[in-house]
Amino acid sequence: MRQKLVAGNWKMNGSRASIKALLDGIKQGIATVESAEVAVCPPYVYLADVEAQLQGTPVVWGAQNLSTEASGAFTGEIASSMLQDFHCKYVIVGHSERRSLYGEDDAMVASKFAVARAAGLKPILCVGESLDEREGGVTEAVVARQLDAVIALEGVAALADGVIAYEPVWAIGTGKTASPEQAQEVHQFIRQRIAEQDAAVAEKVQILYGGSMNAANAAELLTQADIDGGLIGGASLKSEDFLTICRAAG
Ligand code: 13P
Repeated sequence: MRQKLVAGNWKMNGSRASIKALLDGIKQGIATVESAEVAVCPPYVYLADVEAQLQGTPVVWGAQNLSTEASGAFTGEIASSMLQDFHCKYVIVGHSERRSLYGEDDAMVASKFAVARAAGLKPILCVGESLDEREGGVTEAVVARQLDAVIALEGVAALADGVIAYEPVWAIGTGKTASPEQAQEVHQFIRQRIAEQDAAVAEKVQILYGGSMNAANAAELLTQADIDGGLIGGASLKSEDFLTICRAAG
């Protein structure tokens, strides 16, 4: 049985005060989450606050991105060693906003996956198709291409050191979630594609769903056979909503 994971991607939201209040709420309710692992991914500058507030709790934390470089003249970038310094467990790589707004291509995302893994961080690899791609019938081809870039660089076994998040771009921040059947279909496709190369890795790797998952629709999505948790944007900014999703995960 794969443990469920619910991770909050806070994106570029919050302040020191609002994050303190959000974490207070999560800490108060975390005992009601039975078995799922709960993670939060704040903006970089709040990692120290988050670490201080979550130390000694079951909630873990991660970053939303990292540099492919180790150190040096890369203004504005954050290295994997810096994330280790703040005891991050996870780091999101290849989020669709990074791909579409900041030009990250499959090769760069694969290299970020490799750098995170080498540092002992667990990369959460985001994959997913745009609306045009879904309507054009190329969802599986797009997801396969995004996945294969990592497999080509790191080998299929490397996937077991990370987490995959299927996030259809058309469902992100739109309030338009994939139906449980639509999501399950792609999750199953991802697992099958991995299984063709390594059945044990396919069985082990957690595949999260992301895209307008909220307190009302989480339970239905999370009971699908190949959905092992969620990567939550908007609904992770309210402790009650986030905890409801975490409880739905088990
Ligand atoms: P929303 O939950 O706000 O749609 O965002 C999903 C997401 O992009 C998580 O990484």
